[in-house]
Amino acid sequence: MQTIHSIAELQTVLGNERAAKKRIAFVPTMGNLHEGHIQLIHQANRNADITVASIFVNPLQFGVNEDLDTYPRTLQDDQEKLINADCDYLFAPQLEDMYPNGQVIQTLVEVPGISQLHCGVTRPIFFRGIATVVCKLFGIVRPDVAIFGEKDFQQLMVIRRMTEDLFLPVEIQGAPIARAENGLALSSRNSYLNEAEMQIAPLLNRTIREAIGKLEAGQRDYSEVQANAQQQLEAAGFKPDYFNICRRYDLQPAQPDDKELVLVAAAYLGKARLIDNYVIDL
Ligand code: PAF
Repeated sequence: MQTIHSIAELQTVLGNERAAKKRIAFVPTMGNLHEGHIQLIHQANRNADITVASIFVNPLQFGVNEDLDTYPRTLQDDQEKLINADCDYLFAPQLEDMYPNGQVIQTLVEVPGISQLHCGVTRPIFFRGIATVVCKLFGIVRPDVAIFGEKDFQQLMVIRRMTEDLFLPVEIQGAPIARAENGLALSSRNSYLNEAEMQIAPLLNRTIREAIGKLEAGQRDYSEVQANAQQQLEAAGFKPDYFNICRRYDLQPAQPDDKELVLVAAAYLGKARLIDNYVIDL
C-alpha cells in the first residue's frame, strides 16, 4: 500500500489507474480504524480493482465543545491495518491542503431537511461539515464507488442525497454495522469508554432491540416506546440524546401505518457519544 499526502500526487497516481481502466473504490475515514472500517475495505475490494482509503480528521464537522483536539490519531497502526486488509492507497492529507483558503472562507455543501433532524439537532453544523469534506474528497479521488458504514445511518442518507442533488458520478454503497459480540456497534469513539462504561455500553443496543421487539409484537404507541427506552438508558447511566422511531425514507417520525422503519438512537456515556440504529419492516 502506498501512503500519499499530496493531492496532486494522488491525482496523478489515480489518473494512471483510471487510464488503465481500473475501477476505483473509496472508503473515507477519520482514522483510528477498527474492524468496522476493515469490513468497508473488504467490501471496496470486492467492488473494484483499486481501493483508496482516506484518513482526515475533518475540523468542519466538529462543534466548538466537541472532541476535535482529542480525537485519536493513530496513523501508524491504521496503516498496518490497511496493509493487512489489502488496501491499495491511503490518502492522508494535511489540513492546509484540504482547506487552502482557511475554514471560514469556504464553499459549503448544505443538505437541508435531513441534516436538521436527530444528530443535527444537537450537532447543527455536523452534516454540513461532512457533506463539504466528502464532496471535496470525491472531487480529489473521483471514485466509481464509495462505501460508508450503516452505523451512521443519517450520514449515509445525507451523502446519498448530496450525490443525487449534485449529480456526482459516484455510486454510494452502505455496509452493514459491525458489532462486538455483546451487540455494541463498533466505533472509533468506543475508545473513550472506561472499563465500567464498557460494561454499560451494550445496553444501548439491547434497548433498541427490545423496542424493536415491542414494534414486532404490535405496539404502535411510538411515543411510549421511545419514552420507556430513554428512561431505561438514563437509569443505566446514559444521557440519552434521542431515541426515535422513524420512517426509513426521510427519517421523519413514523406513523402507525408506516411499514419501512428505522429506529435511530444516540446517547452520551462518560466522554463518548454512542449512536446505533436498527431497520425494521413491519
Ligand atoms: O464517518 C466518518 O468517519 C466521517 O464522517 C467521514 C465520512 C470520513 C467524513 O469526515
